[in-house]
Formats: sequence, structure tokens, C-alpha cells
Amino acid sequence: MNEEKTTTVLAIETSCDETGIAVVRKVEDSIQVMSEEVASQINIHKETGGVVPEVAAREHVRVIRPLVEKALGDAGISGEALDAIAVTVGPGLMPALAIGVQAARSLAYAWDKPIVPVHHLEGHVYSALLERSDGSKQDFPALALIVSGGHTMLIEVAGHLQYKIIGTTRDDAAGEVFDKVARMLELPYPGGPQISELAEQGSSAAYQFPRPMINSGDLDFSYSGLKTSVLYTIRGLDRVTFEQQKTDIAASFQQAVIDSLIAKVKQALAAKKYATVLLAGGVAANKRLREELVVAAGELDVELRIAPTHLCGDNGAMIGMSGVLAYEAGRVQQWNTVEPSARISIESFV
Ligand code: KG4
Ligand code: ZN
Repeated sequence: MNEEKTTTVLAIETSCDETGIAVVRKVEDSIQVMSEEVASQINIHKETGGVVPEVAAREHVRVIRPLVEKALGDAGISGEALDAIAVTVGPGLMPALAIGVQAARSLAYAWDKPIVPVHHLEGHVYSALLERSDGSKQDFPALALIVSGGHTMLIEVAGHLQYKIIGTTRDDAAGEVFDKVARMLELPYPGGPQISELAEQGSSAAYQFPRPMINSGDLDFSYSGLKTSVLYTIRGLDRVTFEQQKTDIAASFQQAVIDSLIAKVKQALAAKKYATVLLAGGVAANKRLREELVVAAGELDVELRIAPTHLCGDNGAMIGMSGVLAYEAGRVQQWNTVEPSARISIESFV
């Protein structure tokens, strides 16, 4: 009888303000999420208007162990039966990352398992890549647009676990600027979902905000000029007008970000032939961005894979999906050699 080749990992993600735990299994070429748990800290960080790293770390400590128990229970597997533990080692907030890595080290020691170090952004890449696919050769080369609170990047994915950064932001990340503009509009944290909701009632043509870097000739992004432009616009309004104009400002700002993202995707596609375009990261939950990218991909006749909304924000499933592949490719470390790294490039994981 033929034995099926099966790999099962427990995945841990704590780089920012979500504790994400999942059990992911690869059977032959098929990758399945057996269980997933995400504990969001949004309600805690709302009070401070942003993430305080030490507060995030304390919250990860509080919830991580019960979530691991639950994920294993839901998947119907014991720790001893796992092949490995995949964990986000970076980039992210150091105190938060350290909790996930420490948990992985303890469990790996207790169960005598290897650890698979995973880069946070490769998790985001795989959350889109594996949508409707088991990751076949036809998917590559893929052009990944990763837009989150910490990153805005175009990554060329030549094959599984092969990454090259071809564009990045020179200053703020797209999600970060959504959060900052939300604060200017007196909206609660996190700002992205609030702005997109408000924007639905406004006109995206009401204000002509700049589309920075759109003609820069390279694939980089920049959002500080746009942020300043929104700030000056708001400062020029009296209280009553400000309240009336909020929806238009939100819609016009959102459009400027989307235009800049789509322009660079088009530019990258004009320079090289890609089999697929991937969209992932927290900002990929933005409805308008998803819709506009679908139209652009249709015009350019390229296959588009967008991460399902529940996997756009940080989660353990995406770390497990890249983790099983990395494990099979031999990326394993012993428990006592794995360290978190707040600033590490995805290219060093190739
Ligand atoms: O990937 P993620 O959960 O965390 C990081 O790795 O940074 O991304 C969080 C970011 C936040 O800045 C949040 O405001 C943004 O994603 N975001 C959105 C939307 N939902 C979340 N931005 C725009 N539109 C949305 N619907
Ligand atoms: Zn993220």
C-alpha cells in the first residue's frame, strides 16, 4: 500500500497585535488548514490609539497557551504527533515576536520537534498564493503586492520560497497611512476599515490628493506627501465643514492610495511577464482595492489571487501554509538556535 506523504505543523504568529495559532497539514500536494485561532487585541489598543509593544506582548502571553491547546484539540492532533513548529521570527515588534518565539522554543523542547522559522511577509504571500491553488508550477513567476500596517511591497516570487523585493515604500506603509489619516478624521484605531466604510458614502473625486511616485520610473511607493496633503486640507476647514467633508476626504484619500498601488502593479506587469498577481496583507481587505485590482487584472489578462478576507489580517494559518513548504524544503532549526528579529528582509529567507 502506498503511504501518503503527510506533514503537519503547528504555526504561531505574534508579530504585532494578533495572536494567531493554526495547525496546517500538507498531504501530497494539497495544503489544508486543520484549525485556526486568532485573538485580536484591537479593543485593547483602541484606548491608546495604536499598539504599545509591551501591552501587546503581555496579551500574547495571556492567550497563547489556551489557543495552542484549542488549535491542537480542534485539529484532533497531539503535540507529539506534529512534524514541526512554524513560528514568525520577524519582522515585527520585538517584545511581541519574542513571545511567539519563546512559546515555539518551549513547545519544541517539550515535544522534541524542530522549529521552522517563517518571515511574516512570506506568510502574507502564501495567504494569497494558495487561494484556489495547491501551488503548482503554473503559478510562477508571481507578482505579490503586500500591503499591511508595516509594509508596502512588490515581491517577485520566482518559485516556492523564492523572493525578490522589486518595490517598497520609501516612508510610511499603506496601512500606516490609513491609520494616520483615520486619526486626522477622528476615527478610532485601526483606521483602514473605518476609512473604507466612510468612503462608501463620499466622492473619490472631491479632492485631488497627490499620487506620489506615480511617475518615478521605479516600483517604489511613498505616502508621507499624501499624508501631509490630507492634513493641510483638514486644517483649512472649519469644524462644520470638516464634519460635512469627512466622507469625501476619506473617499478621495483612499482613491489616491489605490491609484498608486495599481499604477505600480501595472508598471511591474509591463516590465515582465508574470503568471499570477497576488494581493495580501491587512489593507488587501479593502473592498475598493480588491474591486479595482480585479478590473486591472482583467484588462491586463493576468490571473489574480486575492487572499480571502479572513486571512488578510495577521493570522497563524498563513504562517503554517508557508511553514509546511519550508519544512519540506529543509528549513529547520533546533529549539535553542531560533531568535526573533525585529527587522529582517524576506530575501534572507530564500
Ligand atoms: O497585515 P496586518 O493585519 O498587520 C501588519 O502586518 O501590519 O495589517 C494591518 C493594517 C492596518 O494598518 C489596518 O488599518 C489596515 O491593515 N486595514 C485596512 C483595511 N482593513 C485593515 N486598510 C484599508 N482598508 C481596509 N478595509
Ligand atoms: Zn501582517
